Amino acid sequence: MLREKYASEIDTLRSRFAHRRSAVLPMLYLAQDEYGSLGEEVVREVADVLDLPPTDIFEVVGFYTLFYDRPVGTWMIQVCDDAPCCYCGAEEVMAALKEQLGICENETTEDGMFTIQRVKCLAACGNAPAIQVNLAYLYDVTPEKIDGMLRDLRSRAERGETFRLSGRDADDYTLAPDGSLQRIERRLGKTPEPQPSAA
Ligand code: FES
Repeated sequence: MLREKYASEIDTLRSRFAHRRSAVLPMLYLAQDEYGSLGEEVVREVADVLDLPPTDIFEVVGFYTLFYDRPVGTWMIQVCDDAPCCYCGAEEVMAALKEQLGICENETTEDGMFTIQRVKCLAACGNAPAIQVNLAYLYDVTPEKIDGMLRDLRSRAERGETFRLSGRDADDYTLAPDGSLQRIERRLGKTPEPQPSAA
């Protein structure tokens, strides 16, 4: 199925790298976006497309936490629980998610809409607590806005406006007072403006 549906993308990937192994990560992202997770059958298909031993693909999927070897929700919500985010309320954010979704960490809601996970520093400590939703950044999250955020994500899914799991649609957001996502200019990866010297 990948071969038929993504023939030109696969050709581009294979021609971009001198070694087929170098195409494993982008190929897995493509497969994960298509199937939602990377179970055994999908891994074998990726191996077949890249003409590599399936073991090579299994070990990559097992190593990286951004590859999901079992089904996850339409929205994968990852809460940073490293020290700066914890000081600013990450545990309260996680508690609000668990309470409102009725699930524990690493679980998916029955309707397949949400999965929640803990992750380590997302490199957005200046806007803690930070979370990611399908790898899009949400800054300065508070427990009070979780309900509105979940409603916004649910309605985006109903309109077919989800972000791909691979993060290929990832952007930066803050939460409006009602919890809805508001896109802002990308923050990470930007070179800071030069500051005038203290003198
Ligand atoms: S500690 Fe949460 S983003 Fe760095």
